This record gives sequence, structure tokens and C-alpha cells, in this order.
Amino acid sequence: MNTLSHLAIIMDGNGRWANAQDLPRAKGHEKGALVVREVTTYAAKAGVRMLTLYAFSTENWKRPSTEVDFLMKLLAKFLKQELPTLLEHNIRFDVMGDMHPFSPSLKKAIAHTKEATAHNTGLTQVLALNYGGWDEIARAAQRLASAHTPITPDALEGALDNPIPVDLLIRTGGEMRLSNFLLWQAAYAELRFTPTLWPAFTCKELEELMDSFTQANRRFGGL
Ligand code: FPP
Repeated sequence: MNTLSHLAIIMDGNGRWANAQDLPRAKGHEKGALVVREVTTYAAKAGVRMLTLYAFSTENWKRPSTEVDFLMKLLAKFLKQELPTLLEHNIRFDVMGDMHPFSPSLKKAIAHTKEATAHNTGLTQVLALNYGGWDEIARAAQRLASAHTPITPDALEGALDNPIPVDLLIRTGGEMRLSNFLLWQAAYAELRFTPTLWPAFTCKELEELMDSFTQANRRFGGL
């Protein structure tokens, strides 16, 4: 039986979920944020150590500015609203990605949530923000090069934003690709793809996917 320590999720399908019910795309993102809360508390109760969520990619800046603005506002609201839930469930909050382009107020809200939950010892919820696997690996290599450190796999891994290997990676929304998410950390991850759109994703389905992970035969290149 495998132990699920690090779960990562590509939360895809917010826009399609909203379109299917004649709602603006923003409503899909709003419902998606509620699902983030449910899935996070479920994972915390199930004993998962780390949950990494792809909330905003380095490529998402290409979306219309109205949608980008909405997602930034939603993120700020989310950070404020979720703090009681994080504290109640002993969840530590963290981020990965390049925070430089975010507004000073969003950076402040991120720092505040990190600080307020720093002593929690249960699940760590990591939001991948302005995150891309190529960018993370390039920034890690740049750090080593600046310090004149030889670029070995171990050194590169240690210089990543978050080096913890992913055990199970789930993508909702029907596409079967990684879209530049955790390219290094997911090298030996079990991958699960579901057609369910993120706003319609339930803890029941998560439980089923986690069960199928527990029973998978992971060999890590061995026999
Ligand atoms: C993909 O749906 C989702 C995103 C680009 C952003 C993820 C954001 C959320 C789940 C909501 C907010 C989360 C937090 C943490 C505040 P899409 O827009 O690509 O959907 P589509 O493929 O159907 O168009």
C-alpha cells in the first residue's frame, strides 16, 4: 500500500463549467474557490502532508485583463476568507512560483497568511502562483550559477521553490497533459485524469482517486 504524502492538483474546467450553465466565467472561478476549501479540508483530515494546487500559471497572464484582474481579486479574497478554516484544521499555508509581478497588497496578504499559519503542523497547502515548471527550474539553475555551485541533480533539486516529490497528481477537466506543472517533482508521480470539471469535483471522487493511488504498483524504475 502506498502512502499519499504529497498530492498535487491541476484545477481545470472552471470556464467550461460556467459556460455550460450560461454563467460568466468568473462564476466558475468562484465556485472553484469553494471546491479548493472542501478538497483542502478533506485532504487534511485524510492525513495528506502536502497539497499543491495550480492556481495561476506563468501562462495565465495571456488571458484577457478582465479575467486576470478577477483572478487576482479572488485570490486576495480567498486569502482573507480562508484563514479561519486553515487555523481550525491546523493547515500551514505556503506558495511557490515567482511572486515578483504581484501587487504589493497581494504580496502582503500572502505573507500574512504564511505567517499566521507558520506554526501549524498538519497539512501544508501550497498555492502555485505565477508558477511554471520551466521557470522554476531556470530560477533554480540561476541561483546555483550565481553561487558558483556545480549544477548536479541534487543541487538543482535543493534550489527549487519546493523540492518535495509528488506522489499523486490529479488533473480535472478532461485534458491529459501536465501544462508545465511540477515538471521536476512529478517525475515519478502517479497521474490521474478525470473529465469532471473542477467546480463539480467532489471529495467522493477525490477519495476514489486516492484509493486507486494507494493500490498502484510504484516501482520507481526498479522491479
Ligand atoms: C482553470 O480553469 C483554472 C484556473 C486558471 C485558475 C484556478 C483557479 C481556481 C480554481 C479558483 C480560485 C482558486 C483560488 C485558490 C483562489 P479554466 O479557466 O482554464 O477553465 P476552462 O479550461 O474550462 O476554460
